Amino acid sequence: MEKKVRLKVFRYNPLEDDKPHYEIYEVPYVEGARVLDLLNYVREHLDSTLTYRWECRAGQCGSCGMMINGKAALACQTLLSPEDKEIVIEPLPVFPVIKDLVVDVEKCVRKILKVRPYVHRGSPYKRPEVMYQWEIEEVKPLRECIECWCCVSMCPVVKVAWDVYGGPVVMNSIAKAALDRRNVFDHILLAFLEGLNACTQCAMCKEVCPKEIDIPEKAVGRMRYIAYNKRNLLRPDHRFVVESLRRNYNPLGELAESRGNCFGEWSGLPSLNVPIAKEDAEVLYFAGCMASWREQTVARATATLLKLAGVNFTALGPYERDCGSVLFRLNDMELAQSFALYLKDILKKFKNVHTIVTSCAGCYRTFKVDYPMRLGIELGAEILHSSELFNRYLKEGALSVKDGLNFKATYHDPCHLGRHVGVFDPPREIIRALGIDLQEMLNGRYREKSLCCGAGGGVRSGFREVAREVAAYRIREDVPKEVSIAIHTCPFCYFNFEDAVKIKSFKLMNVDLTELLVAAVMGPEASKVIGKERYEAITRPSAT
Ligand code: SF4
Ligand code: SF4
Ligand code: FES
Repeated sequence: MEKKVRLKVFRYNPLEDDKPHYEIYEVPYVEGARVLDLLNYVREHLDSTLTYRWECRAGQCGSCGMMINGKAALACQTLLSPEDKEIVIEPLPVFPVIKDLVVDVEKCVRKILKVRPYVHRGSPYKRPEVMYQWEIEEVKPLRECIECWCCVSMCPVVKVAWDVYGGPVVMNSIAKAALDRRNVFDHILLAFLEGLNACTQCAMCKEVCPKEIDIPEKAVGRMRYIAYNKRNLLRPDHRFVVESLRRNYNPLGELAESRGNCFGEWSGLPSLNVPIAKEDAEVLYFAGCMASWREQTVARATATLLKLAGVNFTALGPYERDCGSVLFRLNDMELAQSFALYLKDILKKFKNVHTIVTSCAGCYRTFKVDYPMRLGIELGAEILHSSELFNRYLKEGALSVKDGLNFKATYHDPCHLGRHVGVFDPPREIIRALGIDLQEMLNGRYREKSLCCGAGGGVRSGFREVAREVAAYRIREDVPKEVSIAIHTCPFCYFNFEDAVKIKSFKLMNVDLTELLVAAVMGPEASKVIGKERYEAITRPSAT
């Protein structure tokens, strides 16, 4: 029997239809076929009214960008797999629909034209003009852009604040000129005013770009470097962050000596007696600033779980300093390096430490990616996120679940843990081991396609409203309706979600995975760690 593929295609003619609908087409499966071939089959054999754009069939003209199973992609480059039974095809979001899969990109084109996306020449200029190889290498990938708009349609900031942030193609267009030595126009200032610092650096644009252009690093990151280091262009809130990091070693304005207080007597609960700067420790728990001051139950739960697993560990308490994550995003490399060197240096005191465990996805990415790749600094220990370590302990039996948690919940993949480093399974394995019925985020936005919470890249500190609106969008659009609890593995995402919940009055409880784990491992005794009220709320979310 001939094998068929079901195409579920978005149909809408704004001139005739009240609202969009989906049409189902059965199309023969042919090995090597691409989504565009299926659409062409539909048009030629089943429905000649279906409207979409295409031209080159070679991934070069950029005209066939559309949503394919929830991800923006070129139809002419998306191969069918033999496992494909149904493919959902929709127009690129954020743009108005002209008809079916054809969208109106005029708004984006106008934004690009506004930023003068070409090299402005001084006059007179002398020939020959030399462009060095490294300069060519810098702009070459940016010039690969075929304006397919896939990145724009998936950018979380564009979805909620396109007036504040020009978006990935605009940043790419500015960078092409700004990084060209022949250019005499102040494109860096233009980028700054177009929201250069409002990009969360979530890397969704890179994930969907058919040319794999690394806009967050090569366009946004590079221009931020120049803006910060050469032009002194910094938002006032970011100035505060940097100054606080210089004086207090944290970006929050908290006094340095209060770091680690969360392990002591806290909120009427007894001290956890967490070892601080224990020299013979084998595992270093790096709590990070968000768990140290903003979501302290995360630090308390994590330290308790390490104790319960019988680990010879230490926290650093007041000796801990920031990981430098936000400095890498703002591109203050000198200050970032000082934090990396401080940690590297202090580790010399703990000769037996073979593992560093973090609560925060941002610290994790910073130690794992930014220190070695951008500074050439290796910490000389295995870097693990707490979800990786505790999943290991559950499998080995060092931790065991006493009270299973019997409810439905969703999970938010933090960009820094998931898309940036590829940690997707350990949190999910723990969630299932706890007995929780995991409902993935809607619209296919989980794992690699997870939507950013809006806080990263310095956006939370520089553009609070934008960060909150992105989190609100994420909650409104993606959290399954039957779910009242969202599980986090990053206290920064957790904090930003929580802010959106409070301001927008969503009925959603945010909880860190370690809070759930400590509750499941200890039962009601966990009240001594995270508080009775919190314990009861997170173990019986439907009752709250
Ligand atoms: S990194 Fe994220 S926020 Fe920045 S342009 Fe890309 S998709 Fe948008
Ligand atoms: S940067 Fe990539 S995804 Fe964005 S428009 Fe250009 S080619 Fe398309
Ligand atoms: S048809 Fe030209 S990029 Fe797909």
